[in-house]
Amino acid sequence: MTTRSIEATGAAGAAAPRIDGRLKVTGQARYAADEMRPNTAHAVFLTSAIAKGRIATMDLAAARALPGVLAIFTHENMGGLVREPTFFGAGGTASTVQRPLSGPEIQHEGQIIAMIVADTLEAARDASFRIAVAYEEQKPTATLDSEGIDVRAAKEIKKTHEDPKAGDFAKGIAAAQSRVDGEYRTPIQHHNAIELFSTTCEWSGDELTIYEPSQFVYGLRAGMAEQLGIDPQRIHVINPYVGGAFGSKGSVTPRTALVAIAARQLKRPVKLVVTRDQGFTVTTYRAETRHKVTLGARQDGKLTAYSHDGWELTSRIDDYMVAGTEGATRLYAAPNIATHVSVVRADRNTPGFMRSPPEVPYVYALETAMDELAVALNMDPIELRRVNDAKKDPITGMRFTSRSLMECFDAAAKSFGWSEHDRRPGAHRDGDWLIGWGCASTLYPAQMSPAAARVRFDHTGKARIEIAAHDVGTGAYTVIGQMAAERLGTDLKNISVEMGDSTLPAGPVAGGSITTASACNAVAAACDAIRRKLFAAAVKSEKSPLSGQKPATLDLVAGRVVGASGAGQGLDKVFEKLGAGVVEEYAEWIPHEATPAGMQKTYQGGVSIVGGPMKDRTAYAFGAELLEVRINTYTREIRVPRIVGAFAGGRIINPRTAHSQLMGGMIWGISSALHEETELDLGAARYINDNLADYLVPVNADIGEVEVIFVPEEDKLVNPLGIKGIGELANVGTAAAISNAVYHATGTRVRKLPIRIEDLL
Ligand code: MOS
Repeated sequence: MTTRSIEATGAAGAAAPRIDGRLKVTGQARYAADEMRPNTAHAVFLTSAIAKGRIATMDLAAARALPGVLAIFTHENMGGLVREPTFFGAGGTASTVQRPLSGPEIQHEGQIIAMIVADTLEAARDASFRIAVAYEEQKPTATLDSEGIDVRAAKEIKKTHEDPKAGDFAKGIAAAQSRVDGEYRTPIQHHNAIELFSTTCEWSGDELTIYEPSQFVYGLRAGMAEQLGIDPQRIHVINPYVGGAFGSKGSVTPRTALVAIAARQLKRPVKLVVTRDQGFTVTTYRAETRHKVTLGARQDGKLTAYSHDGWELTSRIDDYMVAGTEGATRLYAAPNIATHVSVVRADRNTPGFMRSPPEVPYVYALETAMDELAVALNMDPIELRRVNDAKKDPITGMRFTSRSLMECFDAAAKSFGWSEHDRRPGAHRDGDWLIGWGCASTLYPAQMSPAAARVRFDHTGKARIEIAAHDVGTGAYTVIGQMAAERLGTDLKNISVEMGDSTLPAGPVAGGSITTASACNAVAAACDAIRRKLFAAAVKSEKSPLSGQKPATLDLVAGRVVGASGAGQGLDKVFEKLGAGVVEEYAEWIPHEATPAGMQKTYQGGVSIVGGPMKDRTAYAFGAELLEVRINTYTREIRVPRIVGAFAGGRIINPRTAHSQLMGGMIWGISSALHEETELDLGAARYINDNLADYLVPVNADIGEVEVIFVPEEDKLVNPLGIKGIGELANVGTAAAISNAVYHATGTRVRKLPIRIEDLL
């Protein structure tokens, strides 16, 4: 018997290069906007210049007169054509209930007010500049403390919401020997994936094909069926590659129905590529938040009480909220916990998911407050976390499926060289540079959803995997292929993976970091059905060393079915006995505590994610981030020369792609701490820096050493394969760690993000 190492085969566990890497770097991977159907017409949006009021008149004459202009859609000729979408928060798929071009009312700056379709992009764009719009303008409400906000308790607008609590906060805080109170702020952020938002629609009779970057092709199909009032079976969504999403391409935005209707009316394919600046308002973003955190502790550091009040911005018309107290309250063993989330309505477009939507703002606030507590107690911040490490879920009392937070701190501290150091602010310097160390915990719920997959395996050892999952740049194609390579005992190079197409078996939404766990468990289930068929045939082969053996003792290794002794039979012989050339199996995987209807719901474009706190267990991935900042004494320039993150995410299927996810997460965390903020014109409720020149993101020169450590973790409870998602784990703790290091370097506690030079002057 010949066996080859996991690295040689590329099976699960190998640091395999991406199977789609070559296609991507050679430009052969076709992204949605690369599709150019014959006779395509081009659409361009005109968006509102005001945030609140109504359109009085629109003069289209000059635009219509331009050669090549085919149609101009406004509320006057489009009203009522798009049916009311169901908000994803209410079980639908839509990012907003706004019906585009349905009337003259303006609900936010940058709202779609016209769509021009022309033979060429140039003509459509030119026409968009020639539409004269007169508005009746009202004074808008811009943000959290603007005049005219409408503040509601989360519970009031979402019946299923519960503010996590434990024990008796008032008693706990009264018993505290040390107490900190902090108010923290996080900014507006926009995703700014390099791939712009685009939609191309083509009708063939009453069949609609949609090319659009999507984190959920089944959701997009269902959403379009709803908004167009047609049978979902007549809609085909094709989207094999996504050039970055981060949550922005997970729900259905108002643009798609407009393009579909235009294509139907013009009887031509219509393509729309939303411009960078329009992307800030016709899709979603991370909303600004406020936090009040109180921590009480005994002199030995043990928490006696934790309270966390959060305020989050949303639009007038939708109930988007992140309510991140659910995650934050799972970090520490505080016996008395009180939380409260409020949602604040203003005249803005509806926010939405952005990488670790709840944890990023809430854990930032908590982890900064924890550092303030460590300072108040004159205690090492890692020790403070150690004495408060939760052994069970602080809210429900349930066990964690696994929890390796302190193992992460130990591994990161060792590599970083964290040891007793002078914790007084400003104590460490190197020439003109003040040096600060900071740390923070990170966590993200281990989540999953029902998923289906089809696997086709042939007698030469080649396999084809079909699943409507999505690779948003994470490496999902590769990881899913690796899982099949492991189960089928074949090489990754023998496996092809088909994804991102609504005709494939329903896979998970690429959100909530659920893809690897959900898709791999489904693919493994299909592979296991194939194994059972082959093993049953193999033991019936008379002239085979496997004859009469128990099927359950067999394995598939390197193109052979083998028994415990190592003796076996080639696949061709086993297939011969089976009387088949190919075995194909379809399997559905339903995670623990998913509703029985969850799979059906996924096929209907619904999302049924389980994980995090469950009825009988609590599943989270954890990590620790330690870093150094250097701040120039004179200019107050802030640099992050090194960051070490140690993470425990259950079984790691591909250390290479996982490393990229975690490294990228920490880089985004640095960006959150020091660079990113969408600036708001408070008078106009308008985004100012809506372009890649003014919206700051880090470049190579901003990033120093980034070290990623995998802390081994075997989790037998989270799902059969022990996989936890890691896509949204690493960007959670970073901003607090930087903020804490800035305090250590300077003695200035900045309680908002991003931290700018001017905050340290
Ligand atoms: Mo991600 S923000 O869960 O799509």
